[in-house]
Amino acid sequence: MSRTGGRGLTAVPGPVIEVTGVEKRFDRVVALHGVDLAVPRGTVHGLLGHNGAGKSTLINILATQIRPSRGTARVAGYDVVGEAPQVRRRIGLTGQSATLDERISGRDNLVLIARLLGARSRQARARADELLESFRLTDAAKRQARTYSGGMQRRLDLAACLVGRPEVIFLDEPTTGLDPESRLTTWQVVRDVVRDGSTVVLTTQYLEEADRLADTITVLARGGVVASGTPADLKARVGGRTVTVTLAAPTRLAACVQCLRGAGLRSTPDDTRTKVTVPVGSARDTAAIVRTLDDAGIEVAELLLAEPSLDEVYLSLTARPPAEAPERTRVSSPHSVRRSRRE
Ligand SMILES: Nc1ncnc2c1ncn2[C@@H]1O[C@H](COP(=O)(O)OP(=O)(O)OP(=O)(O)O)[C@@H](O)[C@H]1O
Ligand SMILES: [Mg+2]
Repeated sequence: MSRTGGRGLTAVPGPVIEVTGVEKRFDRVVALHGVDLAVPRGTVHGLLGHNGAGKSTLINILATQIRPSRGTARVAGYDVVGEAPQVRRRIGLTGQSATLDERISGRDNLVLIARLLGARSRQARARADELLESFRLTDAAKRQARTYSGGMQRRLDLAACLVGRPEVIFLDEPTTGLDPESRLTTWQVVRDVVRDGSTVVLTTQYLEEADRLADTITVLARGGVVASGTPADLKARVGGRTVTVTLAAPTRLAACVQCLRGAGLRSTPDDTRTKVTVPVGSARDTAAIVRTLDDAGIEVAELLLAEPSLDEVYLSLTARPPAEAPERTRVSSPHSVRRSRRE
C-alpha cells in the first residue's frame, strides 16, 4: 500500500467519496450488494455493521486493495479501478491488523515512510517526532516496534498512515483493543486531521465512538446499506425520545398510568414499579406529562428526558431475519449534512 499523501493536489467539488451500486462477490459469498455512499470532504464517516456485514470489504475496495465485482467507486475524484495509482497517492489506510516493520524502532518506521514519500532527512525526523508525540509514543520511540504492546502497535500503525498527510484516510477498526485513554487519543487525532482538511472513513464496533466522532454514518447489514445519515437522524428515525417519571410514592403508580392515558400518553411501568416511561414526540408531550400529574396531585421525585442511544438504533436496524432482504432507509442525504463537531 502506498502511503503517499497529496492533499491539495486536487480540488474536486462534491463528495470526496462516491460509491454507486457496488457489489462484491467472493465465489458464492456476496459480501456487498448495491451499496451507494457519498461522503463530503472534511468529514468523518462511520461504517457500522455486524461481523461479516461487509465493512472491511468496502474499505478495501475504496483503498484499491480489491476490485468491486460491479458498480463504481470514486475517491478524491478518481476511479478506484481505472485510476488506482492516483487514488493510492491520496489516501492512507490502516487495516484490522498492523503492518509495520517490527525489527526497527517506532521512530525509524515513521522516518522511513516519510523518506519514502520524498521528505528530506530532517523533515522526516520532525514529522515522525510530531506523530509520536500525538500518539503518546515519544517514550517508546527508540524501542523496536516488536516490543510494543498491541495497543501501542495499533497507535504506531495509525501514525504511519498519517505521515504523508493523506487527503482521505480509511481506518478499519482503529480503536479495537485500545485502552480508554488511547481511544481518546485516537479520537483527538482523528478530529485534528479532519480539522486540517482530511476526510476520514472508519469502521467501528463501538457505537459510542461512531456517535461521538462521525458526522455521518452508514449502517451495513448482510452486505447492504440499511440506513445512512447523521447520528441524530438515525436516532430520530428509529427510536423516539422518552421521559421517565420516578414517583415519590409507588402506591400512585396505577393512578399515574391512568391519568396519563386520559391525556393520550402511553406509559409503561418498569420492573421496580416506581417509574413509568413515556414516549414523547415533542416538548408539548413533556409539558403535558408534568401538567397532568400535577393536576392529579401525583408527586414526582424525578423526571428524566432520554435520547435513544445509537445502540438501540443499531440493534433495531440490524436485527432482521437473514432471509429478509435489507430495506433501504436513507434518512438524509450526506450532502446536506452540516458539520457539528462534538467534543
Ligand atoms: N477474501 C475473501 N474470500 C472469501 N470471502 C470473503 C473474503 N473477504 C471477505 N469475505 C466474506 O465477505 C463477507 C464480508 O466480510 P468483511 O470482512 O467485509 O466483514 P466486516 O463487516 O468487516 O466484518 P468484521 O466486523 O468481522 O470485521 C463475510 O461473509 C466474509 O466471510
Ligand atoms: Mg472487518
